[in-house]
Amino acid sequence: MLPADLDPDRIPGHIACVMDGNGRWARERGLPRTEGHEAGEEALFDVVEGAIEAGLEWFTVYAFSTENWRRPPEEVRFLLDFNEQIILKRRDQLHERNVRIRFIGRRDGRVPRRVIRRMEEAEVLTRANTGLTFTVAFNYGGRAELVDAVQRIVDSGLRRVSERTVARHLYDPDMPDPDLVIRTSGEHRVSNFLLWELAYSELIFSDTLWPDFRREDLFTAIKEYQDRERRYGSLAGGGR
Ligand code: FPP
Repeated sequence: MLPADLDPDRIPGHIACVMDGNGRWARERGLPRTEGHEAGEEALFDVVEGAIEAGLEWFTVYAFSTENWRRPPEEVRFLLDFNEQIILKRRDQLHERNVRIRFIGRRDGRVPRRVIRRMEEAEVLTRANTGLTFTVAFNYGGRAELVDAVQRIVDSGLRRVSERTVARHLYDPDMPDPDLVIRTSGEHRVSNFLLWELAYSELIFSDTLWPDFRREDLFTAIKEYQDRERRYGSLAGGGR
């Protein structure tokens, strides 16, 4: 059930999320960091259900950044396997919920072939679905995305470039810019996430560590977004 104070007609079309704080959540409990990531999976799929309930059209999460390769090799290995297992475990459930799964990021030689295969399978399985589009940013960096876009523009031989040209060469040209970006765990940074796309997004920073984040927290963020929109949209409201 959506909270009564949410306006169902003004649900943002696209919310993107930096799921931060898994490591700290685990440390606070004396657990290995990997258990923080596992708890983060529960949080993520509760929030995806919330996104479906709220009628969101696009929901994007930052699962693995181009900077995450700098983590200790055991954690990198864990995260690669973990992501592969999540795709395998959740794809049918998401398919039944009419969710279209997409991945953005570099599918380069550092990502094991088997992980790329899982991504492609999930995309193909769910490509005709018409509900939520759930985009997973994997081996993703905003600067890398812009570099890749520029490279493809150069390769195509285009000589005149506009904002539309750049937007058309991003990883997913169909993806609308996010209306709202949420980052958890009290960090107030963008961290190379969707640099081009978030030019006009509302940003909401939550102190909650990602493994504790639930659909109710998503609804609270949507409420804050709606309140901001109401304030900024009304000249009379501010009295000025
Ligand atoms: C940040 O916490 C979180 C991550 C690096 C990984 C989050 C990934 C998932 C929950 C899985 C998503 C996968 C799919 C396929 C949808 P952190 O380790 O940076 O935490 P810290 O800042 O407290 O150290």
